[in-house]
Amino acid sequence: MSNESVQLYYPSPEFVKNAAVSGMDAYKALCAEAEKDYEGYWARHARELITWQTPFTKVLDESEAPFYKWFTDGKLNVSYNCLDRNVEAGNGDKTAIIFEADDGQVTKVSYKELLSKVCKMANALKSMGVKKGDRVVIYLPMTVEGIVAMQACARIGATHSVVFGGFSAQSLRDRINDAGAVCLITSDGQFRGGKSIPLKPIADEAFSLGGCESVKNVIVFKRTGGEVSMTAGRDQWLHEVLASQPETCEPEWVEAEHPLFLLYTSGSTGKPKGVQHSTGGYLLQAIMTMKYSFDIKPADVFWCTADIGWVTGHTYITYGPLACGATEVVFEGVPTYPDAGRFWKMIQDHKASIFYTAPTAIRSLIKAADTNEAVHPKKYDLSSLRLLGSVGEPINPAAWEWYHQNVGGGRCPIVDTFWQTETGGHMITPMPGATPLVPGSCTLPFPGIQAAVVDETGSDVPWGQGGILVVKKPWPSMIRTIYGDPERFKKSYYPEDLGGTLYLAGDGAIRDAKTGYFTITGRIDDVLNVSGHRMGTMEIESALVAHEKVAEAAVVGRPDDLTGEAICAFVVLKGARPTGDEAKKVIKELQDWVGKEIGPIAKPKDIRFGENLPKTRSGKIMRRLLRSLAKGEEVTQDTSTLENPAILEQLKG
Ligand code: PRX
Repeated sequence: MSNESVQLYYPSPEFVKNAAVSGMDAYKALCAEAEKDYEGYWARHARELITWQTPFTKVLDESEAPFYKWFTDGKLNVSYNCLDRNVEAGNGDKTAIIFEADDGQVTKVSYKELLSKVCKMANALKSMGVKKGDRVVIYLPMTVEGIVAMQACARIGATHSVVFGGFSAQSLRDRINDAGAVCLITSDGQFRGGKSIPLKPIADEAFSLGGCESVKNVIVFKRTGGEVSMTAGRDQWLHEVLASQPETCEPEWVEAEHPLFLLYTSGSTGKPKGVQHSTGGYLLQAIMTMKYSFDIKPADVFWCTADIGWVTGHTYITYGPLACGATEVVFEGVPTYPDAGRFWKMIQDHKASIFYTAPTAIRSLIKAADTNEAVHPKKYDLSSLRLLGSVGEPINPAAWEWYHQNVGGGRCPIVDTFWQTETGGHMITPMPGATPLVPGSCTLPFPGIQAAVVDETGSDVPWGQGGILVVKKPWPSMIRTIYGDPERFKKSYYPEDLGGTLYLAGDGAIRDAKTGYFTITGRIDDVLNVSGHRMGTMEIESALVAHEKVAEAAVVGRPDDLTGEAICAFVVLKGARPTGDEAKKVIKELQDWVGKEIGPIAKPKDIRFGENLPKTRSGKIMRRLLRSLAKGEEVTQDTSTLENPAILEQLKG
């Protein structure tokens, strides 16, 4: 990518004039401030943007690196910063949340009302004995109650771990078990795309698998009215436990390093890992990125379409917007129900001014608009929009241009934000009132973030040359550890072969030879990104081999126009290799099996059967080869080390 050949998109003078980071000089000044006095830069923002109960005097503690700590002697409460301080500032009646249900019903919740809901929920948790440091698993749909549950945990210093409502009983069980949760907050079911989907029965199944004995209380939010069974002495309805709770609850002031949440995410090996985040440093970057990357202003209506089950929903639904006193849209449903114009209609109805979504959603809506004029964004009044965002996967330039033109009317900057569950907030992203945009590039690091591209030994590579994306200095909202597995944290993120001091993101990147703009080239490990969801190939392989018919399985990704990457599984059955209708039947069986073992997002799109897998003479599966086969490419790699070259024919699509 050279900027000579690509068009640059500049923010309008009006946007620049009012922007928090106004022009490239302002961006550079922030970077220079961080360069000159790294700790001072973050400390200044932490003092300006967070209300501390006990101000900190220490900034960065590197004594146990890479277990970095920030603002260690400061005390604060995240829920206080998100709710009370907005009420105290006279914004109690301001709308915090515009909730739109799957069926289109709209409910508005003011800051005052949200505070009282959170306090009641916090009191309910306390009444059950949940206390500071306890883990609470939240398995809820995208509703106000999900946000309230998270904020309530934050209020009493309990560490929440949200499990996406699309995960299976087994996945839920594993997360409850790993976190040693004392309480589970779930619902009878959820509404999505006009359907009522059960949730509590899945939780019951998780319990029946064993390993959830740490859970003493299950709170059930009545959402769908679906049939559920309640276990006496353990399960209680949310409305019943809330009925007698007072509407105020003194926040628990916690140390800045107190774990605000765990969020499980996939790695290249083993089971999903519990990424542990802090309170102070995390909140700081949630607020800073809202201000600088999203340029949030009091009059904005912010809409992030993520689910609270993912980190984007944590930082840019539950915490960031509220900590900034913003009004935000929260959506229960899916972009294609009742039709693929739903997002555009909601932007129109709620006058959303900042819209943040994933490239997969954009691509599917482009496809829908191409075939049905009625759901094309031009049919809607999107004039309220002033800024767009993209997250979760690389956005292809064609989708970027369409988003810019058809949704943003050619006037809205697009912030292509690169970050991860582990980073807590944006790492590489344009500043919308400063950075000239290049479609497909997340441009430059957030001010203060020391992102770089290095080779296998940890040495910088020159601009224009691809390499490994790293972060050279610790930052406040970074992952603190992997819950219960500090060794794995060190190995995964601070590997010795890079010198042990560089944070390894797990992505490849290249910087433009002239501008230094970053383009993410995709994961360099065995992690797939399907529709912006992270999946470990090993997890899917383990699920497949757990099926009684499967002897061996290898999973790789292949490019997909819609979902970015698609999951392709190569399977050896215990019996004969199936063909024709029999193969189709087993494919469906295995897809459903993986859906049940992990969740529907993990279902392989392609399954191919072989009598064996391509292996080297020492028995190693040749994944490189499988990736070529998955793509439908002619195998050009050297297959001379292959034990069984004839197998390749069978595994072609
Ligand atoms: O591969 C990168 C991709 O998503 C991964 C992180 O996934 P997760 O922890 O689930 O968090 C997703 C939401 C923050 C990264 O390692 N990724 C995320 N954002 C981008 C991206 N790839 C390219 N461009 C992005 N803007």
